[in-house]
Amino acid sequence: MNAIKIGLLGLGTVGTGVVRIVEKHQEDLMSQVGSPIRIEKIAVKSLEKERSIAVDPAILTQDPWEVIRHPDIDIIVEVMGGVEDTKTYLLDALEHGKHIVTANKDLMALYGSEILAKAVEQQCDVFYEASVAGGIPIIRTLIEGFSSDRITKIMGIVNGTTNYILTKMSREGASYEDVLKEAQQLGYAESDPTSDVEGLDAARKMAILGTLGFRTNVELRDVSVRGISSVSKEDIAYARQLGYEMKLLGIAERHDEGISISVQPTMVRTSHPIAAVSGVFNAVYVYGEAVGETMFYGAGAGEMPTATSVVADLVAVIKNMKLGVNGLRAIVPYKEKKLKADDQ
Ligand code: HSE
Repeated sequence: MNAIKIGLLGLGTVGTGVVRIVEKHQEDLMSQVGSPIRIEKIAVKSLEKERSIAVDPAILTQDPWEVIRHPDIDIIVEVMGGVEDTKTYLLDALEHGKHIVTANKDLMALYGSEILAKAVEQQCDVFYEASVAGGIPIIRTLIEGFSSDRITKIMGIVNGTTNYILTKMSREGASYEDVLKEAQQLGYAESDPTSDVEGLDAARKMAILGTLGFRTNVELRDVSVRGISSVSKEDIAYARQLGYEMKLLGIAERHDEGISISVQPTMVRTSHPIAAVSGVFNAVYVYGEAVGETMFYGAGAGEMPTATSVVADLVAVIKNMKLGVNGLRAIVPYKEKKLKADDQ
């Protein structure tokens, strides 16, 4: 049976999880897609780095082009991050008929429409479940699960690092700096954690969720952003005394006058289910006119939860390859965007 050959760009926290899942669940994955899945080549920053998994050194390269232009590779899994160079690599891969699975929210928030347009043109898949809320399958839920409804509100804790920090500050009185260091050691934080703590990471994820939920083209500049760096232990303790938890919330709403999207520290009543979301966990609340309230909960960062979403995308792409229907999901019927006046 011919194996489906995968090229991996990046072997950091998420890439390592992808290798682990593909190896450990190989038999089960094969039973779903009908072929073995083989990781053929991996682009890494350093060939010498000590790793927590055994990888055949012969499949490692420091040159991403060796992966992207590899003639036998059908699917590129991008888990290295970065924006401008990464966009060049992925557009080139699409140009050469390769399907993409990416965990890159920065790239999808900034250049998603361009990349998806290229995917449609090339009849290729671009799947990006892991870009928002780690292990929670919220992207396929918005695209497929809510296709019959009109969503009017999406509210979420979509950054694990800041939720981890706020939880430890609230429950243990820990200091902001110490908890941030811990989150970095656990592999939750971005390489530059400023984007976590200043709300930019959450804003990028909200732009993706808003785009899919409202079927319009939300851009990063449409999201008003405030992070948690100015939130003190005292603010959190005071909020608790009043019966609230402090959370970094992304809120996307559809009003008669247009949509509004923001990310900001918000006092949430302790009785609301979102207030109970602690540590690195994420939660996304979605309100649809027909369905009413729904909520999705799970680990928002970390090796295995995020890799679960990446490999689930891989399975979806391979199934599409077998059916010959790649590229269809990238066709999003965008409506013209109208922002609520005070958010423009
Ligand atoms: N730094 C991100 C977070 C990683 O903390 O949520 C997952 O996107």
